[in-house]
Amino acid sequence: MKQIRYIFLILLILVCIPIVNATDDPHGTTASINCEQCHISHGTLGDILVNATDSLVSTLCLSCHTPGGWAGMTKSFSSSERAIPGQTGTSHAWNVDTANVIRGANQPQIPVLLDHISSSGRITCATCHDPHSNTVSPFLRLDNSADALCLDCHRSRDIASVKTYTGNTLSHPTNIALPSGTGWHNPPLDVDANPQPSDGNTTNDFVLGAGGEVRCTSCHGVHYTDSNAGTVDGP
Ligand code: HEC
Ligand code: HEC
Ligand code: HEC
Ligand code: HEC
Ligand code: HEC
Repeated sequence: MKQIRYIFLILLILVCIPIVNATDDPHGTTASINCEQCHISHGTLGDILVNATDSLVSTLCLSCHTPGGWAGMTKSFSSSERAIPGQTGTSHAWNVDTANVIRGANQPQIPVLLDHISSSGRITCATCHDPHSNTVSPFLRLDNSADALCLDCHRSRDIASVKTYTGNTLSHPTNIALPSGTGWHNPPLDVDANPQPSDGNTTNDFVLGAGGEVRCTSCHGVHYTDSNAGTVDGP
């Protein structure tokens, strides 16, 4: 009887090992990160069981993503970098309500985003990022190459609902190919007035979609964005 119990225990451990090592690098073995760095040990793991004094996902993320927060950390943030539109900040807002009429934002609709807003309805780092899976790098919940992430919340600024030259809501068109020709600055010019990437700074390049479309992310960065095309953006 005792022997059977031991066999059961060994089987249980063998079943658990692959789960325990299931986080993708760089949140995995290469940086010596396992579940316990991010989760409070408990029978069940869930949204509120994050290893942060105030239960906020951003506090957990920033505890490592700070200079010296984790060995070899190069991608650091501080809460003062959080954007307050028109005033300050270099990173997309977090710990704010997902719905904001003035900024054209609504609660997300796509389940993978909606499932990961905080219990008080706020955006967290983990709304846009899945800290376990780097399938869509960098740990994104959705492929954002066609603005899927941005437009789920900012859908009132989607081309389908944005009215231009009509006297209604005015917003720059997106998802439309930039016409070619110098009148349209296509190819776009760099800050040195020559076609990009002539100034050698790739972080200020106006990036178009695969079919030449203007995207939200052609003009907007998400992190480390100082709104100055003359400087290099980065951690
Ligand atoms: C880098 C930090 C980090 C690591 C490492 C990590 N998690 Fe998580 N995990 C989180 C965060 C943050 C959430 C909350 C997501 C949210 O707000 O919805 C979470 C949520 C979860 C959930 C709830 C379902 C979900 O996806 O939201 C489960 C289950 C879970 N983690 C299991 C694990 C297991 C098992 C491991 C180890 C293999 C692990 N986690 C490693 C950060 C981490
Ligand atoms: C236990 C420490 C730790 C925690 C907690 C942590 N990270 Fe990380 N993260 C790292 C390390 C280490 C790297 C690699 C950094 C580097 O290359 O400089 C990294 C890299 C990343 C990257 C870049 C991935 C890539 O492929 O370049 C993203 C995105 C990221 N983390 C998001 C998050 C988010 C969101 C959270 C909170 C849910 C979080 N991290 C919490 C340690 C951590
Ligand atoms: C609104 C969605 C959103 C939120 C909120 C968000 N991120 Fe990101 N993050 C992104 C996107 C999109 C990228 C990829 C951008 C790019 O590569 O230009 C990214 C990139 C990153 C990177 C990689 C940067 C690099 O230069 O390699 C890290 C690290 C990161 N995020 C961490 C965080 C942390 C920590 C938080 C919370 C404090 C957070 N993110 C909040 C969308 C978001
Ligand atoms: C989960 C919902 C959500 C997603 C996803 C999201 N946003 Fe936002 N965004 C908001 C909200 C809410 C605000 C208002 C922030 C505040 O209250 O300060 C905002 C604000 C902004 C601002 C104004 C400056 C700032 O950060 O506060 C810009 C620019 C912006 N978003 C662009 C983007 C882009 C580009 C993407 C895609 C990479 C994106 N957003 C993805 C909800 C979202
Ligand atoms: C052609 C460049 C361009 C494109 C494309 C663009 N934006 Fe903007 N956006 C700007 C500029 C410039 C500002 C600053 C305007 C100001 O300060 O009055 C801005 C401001 C914002 C703001 C903050 C101010 C406000 O009105 O709420 C948000 C949010 C925003 N954009 C979201 C988006 C989203 C979402 C998309 C994609 C649907 C997008 N933008 C596409 C250039 C652009």
